[in-house]
Amino acid sequence: MNLEKAAHIIRNGGLVAFPTETVYGLGCNAFDSKAVAKIFEVKNRPKFDPLIVHISSESQLEDLVVEISDTTRKLMTAFWPGPLTLIFKKKKTLPPIITSDLDTVAIRMPNHPLALNLITKAKIPIAAPSANPFGYISPTTAQHVKDQIGNKIDLILDGGPCQVGIESTIIDATTPKLKVLRWGGLEIETIEKIICQPVEDKTHSDVHPSAPGQLKSHYAPHKSLILFETDDIEFRKRMEKQYKNIRFLLFKPDKNFPKNQCEILSKKGSLIESAANLFSALHKLDSSDADLILAEKIPETGLGRAIMDKLKKAEHKRDL
Ligand code: TXA
Ligand code: MG
Repeated sequence: MNLEKAAHIIRNGGLVAFPTETVYGLGCNAFDSKAVAKIFEVKNRPKFDPLIVHISSESQLEDLVVEISDTTRKLMTAFWPGPLTLIFKKKKTLPPIITSDLDTVAIRMPNHPLALNLITKAKIPIAAPSANPFGYISPTTAQHVKDQIGNKIDLILDGGPCQVGIESTIIDATTPKLKVLRWGGLEIETIEKIICQPVEDKTHSDVHPSAPGQLKSHYAPHKSLILFETDDIEFRKRMEKQYKNIRFLLFKPDKNFPKNQCEILSKKGSLIESAANLFSALHKLDSSDADLILAEKIPETGLGRAIMDKLKKAEHKRDL
């Protein structure tokens, strides 16, 4: 019932928050520039930051893109539906506001039944950024969306907590050299295995950032957050002198830290579980009475790369 209503709202220029396997998205008809403009307004998002278009079947690409490179096709076959966004040369019929006037468009097919059904029922591609105010922690539950922007949108579809928990990996395969624009829920190592070539790291752009993942600060809590090594006892002592109420964000349980001051990302130290729990843990810590969050550094391989990327962007050292 809600799904019918949601599809109706989308078709009539409204905004619907919906679950995907990565994070909740805030969606509208991709061909309705007025509705897209509303998304920018609700999120307080700068216009230079283009949106991802979500599709539920490859046939929808016909209306959106002018060509599909062989490598892009290979990646679609291997990973769609899934946490992978691909860059395409776009058709001129797409409103420029979606793509910030670029001649490319970012597209993905989410791996979530509610998202896929919504797109299919609405019968149009859905433009959707993550459903959070620009720069703040992404939402991985319907409650996160409700708390942050609930009063500004038409409907929230509740699909429970997101399974992957961090945004899609963004790959540009429009040129022979494959580039990653944002670390995300699909490991680069897995992509490299399928494509049999290395992927170039373009996640840091010093000029005009084409992905907010490329901005220095993003996904950030309001509270101060600092990354630390759990065995750096000197540093911890210094912080404990300076702050009254520190909370620790730990990758796995650690007997050297009091349980009641810790958020544990994964009881068994799994990267997949950590990614799924990351944003929820940050939301929880940000609404706690802590005056500082100390987050454990983890090795930057596989999903650890995306997790650390989010944490580095969440890091602010106010008052230090
Ligand atoms: O997992 C996800 O990708 C989630 C869910 C809702 O699908 N969406 C998401 O959207 O993370 P958002 O708006 O928070 O991030 C979209 C990213 C931005 O970094 C944007 O700059 C980049 O996609 N992007 C969009 N179009 C692009 C383009 N033509 N070239 C390069 N980057 C692009
Ligand atoms: Mg976002």
